[in-house]
Amino acid sequence: MVNPTDVPTLTLNNGVEIPQVGFGTFKVDPKGAQRAVEAALEAGYRHIDTAAVYGNEEGVGAAIAASGIARDELFVTTKLRNGEQRKDLVHPAFEESLRKLGLDHVDLYLVHWPAPGLGTYREAWTELEGIYREGGARAIGVSNFLPEHLHSVLEVAEVVPAVNQVELHPSFQQPETQQASLEKGLAVEAYAPIGQGADLELPAVTRIAEAKGVTPAQVVLRWHLQSGRVVIPKSVTPERIASNIDLFGFELSEEEMTDLTAQDTPERMFPDPATADFTMLD
Ligand SMILES: NC(=O)c1ccc[n+]([C@@H]2O[C@H](COP(=O)([O-])OP(=O)(O)OC[C@H]3O[C@@H](n4cnc5c(N)ncnc54)[C@H](OP(=O)(O)O)[C@@H]3O)[C@@H](O)[C@H]2O)c1
Repeated sequence: MVNPTDVPTLTLNNGVEIPQVGFGTFKVDPKGAQRAVEAALEAGYRHIDTAAVYGNEEGVGAAIAASGIARDELFVTTKLRNGEQRKDLVHPAFEESLRKLGLDHVDLYLVHWPAPGLGTYREAWTELEGIYREGGARAIGVSNFLPEHLHSVLEVAEVVPAVNQVELHPSFQQPETQQASLEKGLAVEAYAPIGQGADLELPAVTRIAEAKGVTPAQVVLRWHLQSGRVVIPKSVTPERIASNIDLFGFELSEEEMTDLTAQDTPERMFPDPATADFTMLD
């Protein structure tokens, strides 16, 4: 187990501390999520990432409740469904997420996608600001926002989003989105941080892993940490859950960092937020 206090934190633009390593739960059903989050909490994770659309908030909540870990030692993120971005739907959707998680507040609440076809992310943002002011979320942010979506939301924002959670791994790094986020004061959170496993086969990754005597996933996750990003790797495999947070016994050299940053192809694995038609999704 990694001592949770050994996991560094980043300070968000409102002063809230976010552990730089979190645990992802995408594509895990509620029972599986409970088991995986229990294993993650045992391994030392204190930051858990879920979303209403994952359908597993109850499983995440059950693991948190069973752990007995003090609420203020945990950092829990969930996200608003695309179909619930409308002004009148945001607060009820948020209350439903809290109920399923069994919590009275979350640490971070995100607009899941800009879904420009819906035309509602700006009004959703104003509702998230209300949730933040009411104390429902210690921080609020966005996900999958390209620079154009950030500029657009900042035109109406009274609270600058604290985080932009985006697809980011060695073969897809979106430097423009990273730069735009950082310039506006948002922390960058890497989802699919190991490219859903695919980037672990890159020769640059396997070479460094062999030289360092660590796993390819540890190399990629350490690269993110040394680049100043938050990571939220997902696994349902106990040994991987444990090794994916065991990142503090080695360091990548400048040359190794440069080598990994040179792997940007860049090819997305997830839909392009500029064009993805989410009008038909929930
Ligand atoms: N905001 C968004 O739109 C968005 C989109 C996607 C994801 N996310 C968040 O980001 C989290 C992470 O992304 P992700 O789940 O798509 O992908 P990921 O964390 O990059 O990769 C997960 C995959 O890699 C495998 N894996 C994990 N650790 C490994 C290791 N040490 N060695 C080899 N394989 C390993 C897992 O297999 P096993 O589980 O079988 O071990 C799983 O198939 C999600 O769970 C979710 O919380 C957010």
